[in-house]
Amino acid sequence: MQTVSVAVIPGDGIGIETVQAARRLLDRLAELDGGIKFAYTEFPWGCAYYTQHGEMAPKDFLSTLRSFETIMLGAVGYPGVPDHVSLWGLLLPIRRGFEQYVNMRPVRILRGVTSPLRGRNPGDVNFVVIRENTEGEYSSMGGRLHTGFPHEVVVQNTVFTRLGTERVIRYAYRLAAKAPRKRLCGATKSNGINWAMPFWDEVFNQIGETEFPEVERWLTHIDALAANFVLKPDVYDVVVASNLFGDILTDLGGAVMGSIGMAPSANINPERKYPSMFEPVHGSAPDIAGKGIANPVGQIWSSSMMLDHLGRQDLGEAVMTAVEDVLEEGRVRTPDLGGRSTTNEMVDAIIARLE
Ligand code: NAI
Ligand code: MG
Repeated sequence: MQTVSVAVIPGDGIGIETVQAARRLLDRLAELDGGIKFAYTEFPWGCAYYTQHGEMAPKDFLSTLRSFETIMLGAVGYPGVPDHVSLWGLLLPIRRGFEQYVNMRPVRILRGVTSPLRGRNPGDVNFVVIRENTEGEYSSMGGRLHTGFPHEVVVQNTVFTRLGTERVIRYAYRLAAKAPRKRLCGATKSNGINWAMPFWDEVFNQIGETEFPEVERWLTHIDALAANFVLKPDVYDVVVASNLFGDILTDLGGAVMGSIGMAPSANINPERKYPSMFEPVHGSAPDIAGKGIANPVGQIWSSSMMLDHLGRQDLGEAVMTAVEDVLEEGRVRTPDLGGRSTTNEMVDAIIARLE
């Protein structure tokens, strides 16, 4: 019996609802499988915690999380707490402190889902975005001077280290080498950003040439790449992007998939020195929070990626097959997919499929 210790951070808004839903599914899956068990410890960190304690989580939260095998997160951020406070107070310290330098975000039109892209059907779009997750544009280096004066100045630095750039690009190449068409596209902007991005391109080409000659590689400027996600999303296997570019691209990816509520993500520490963290791409959705109608698929798909990471790809696949079966049948759908079902009804239907 494999017992997996899971730190659970539901966070805010619909995060609480989608995490609850995914846990219910994982528990039933474990029962059916008989070979795996999840031991959860739930932490009430987030914006509600912040209003009581003045911080998003206790000071020693990273050492608390360190002892777990894996982390499951809902969403953090809620009106009343500035978004930069909630993000820098919990999520970014975890990604950085645990060297989760790979943010893996699949973009795939699931069976039974209508993409807003005309003429694109399930199977046509199926690729993965690898987003750098620890540095780049989200560096926290900079400052603000002469606050309130007309000559006020604000500086925010972008930081690309060789180590940070090489490791994420190498990871993307490894993944591309395993893809059927062996293609890797790098997101760049080396025309406008004239130091960081030419460096990024250089590393991208060096690693490709010396270590992965079998991978077909090309670089595309981020603006054109965004357009291509809409115009020809079928040409990609793997796309590697800096922190900011990857963030923006993957919301677009979520839209292409039919709903941001379905987009999954994994924050991975490939060396497995620290726990990895699995969370949907979407946020806490204050507009629908508390109504019980959030689409649980983003969280469930993220859990399926967690199962992959834990070495149980068979279970990860079973979960996604059940999700797609339910979507294809079409009877049970949350409002973001044009249906009238609740989060719980959707999970019940997926569980019934698994059974
Ligand atoms: P959001 O993703 O929370 O919501 C955007 C839109 O998508 C809303 O209309 C919402 O109802 C809809 N939506 C999102 N998830 C859905 C789901 N599972 N089912 C159905 N509809 C869904 O993004 P927004 O509004 O920009 O941010 C809200 C809060 O969440 C902010 O405080 C933000 O900082 C935080 N946030 C946190 C993230 C995280 O924890 N990783 C990521 C993005 C935002
Ligand atoms: Mg985002």
